[in-house]
Amino acid sequence: MGAAISIDYITHHYPKQTDPTLQDIELTVSPGETIALIGQSGCGKSTLLHMLAGLLIPSEGAVRINGHQVIKPSPRWNMMFQKPSLYPWMTVRRNASLGLIFQGRQEGMNKRVDALLETVGLAEKAEVNVQSLSGGQQQRVALARSLATDPELLLLDEPFSALDAFTKTELQDEVVRLSRDRGITVVFVTHDIEEAVAMADRVVVMGSNPGTLQHQLKVDLPHPRDRTSPGFTELKAELMEFFGATRHPASRPEPTDDTSSSAEAPEADDPAASGSAPARRAIRAA
Ligand SMILES: Nc1ncnc2c1ncn2[C@@H]1O[C@H](COP(=O)(O)OP(=O)(O)O)[C@@H](O)[C@H]1O
Ligand SMILES: [Mg+2]
Repeated sequence: MGAAISIDYITHHYPKQTDPTLQDIELTVSPGETIALIGQSGCGKSTLLHMLAGLLIPSEGAVRINGHQVIKPSPRWNMMFQKPSLYPWMTVRRNASLGLIFQGRQEGMNKRVDALLETVGLAEKAEVNVQSLSGGQQQRVALARSLATDPELLLLDEPFSALDAFTKTELQDEVVRLSRDRGITVVFVTHDIEEAVAMADRVVVMGSNPGTLQHQLKVDLPHPRDRTSPGFTELKAELMEFFGATRHPASRPEPTDDTSSSAEAPEADDPAASGSAPARRAIRAA
């Protein structure tokens, strides 16, 4: 069963900061739901994710998971980063086993890990050193390790941003399939609008200075998602419009064939400051 999350009016000041990094963040996430947190660099996405993980305590407000206030990390949730943080001198199987080893759950471990390596397409590589793997394969090892402990919640901080477009797409679809099969709640941070629409049940757009939740968009498309479908393209355009990435979305169809810069939320553009009508509508809808 996936975790139920309740973020209750979090405001956060880092030490010696006068202005808050996050202000009045309020959000609930249902068990099994997948949420994309999207926003420009520095708006506080990683800060918020660290709070969900219990790695950082908010200066005001609280995170509750299944009704309990989060005050420290738990083996019931796992975090994945852009860099897969593997031990380079260990084999694939050993790296994938580490979560279970740290938790002292070694009974039946090899069988369990082997099944997961099979699931992520690395059964043949179990005995090789992780250093000999590609970036995408290494991220698969991290994914297998994250899933091995049967987490209720996966927290992903731009986990695919260093990968090539093809590998990225494959892994996005894989995480969706695996988390849905297992009913795991997922909160992931991304800059990539296509990634958000491809994976999320709900996209939460953050504004910056201070970090706030500005807008929420439900993605009601069936899985596996067809990235060229009109519904997909429309939602992508709606999000892009919100970021001011497209000036005339009605007269300029969105490209659907790549994940290049056009699908990225522009770093320097503050959605909160955008004066376009759809952006204003979106803010009111938050
Ligand atoms: N440990 C820290 N101490 C002080 N300021 C920090 C710390 N970590 C992040 N910040 C600041 O908080 C803001 C939000 O950072 P972060 O959560 O990393 O943003 P994002 O992940 O959206 O890029 C930034 O202005 C950043 O400089
Ligand atoms: Mg970040």
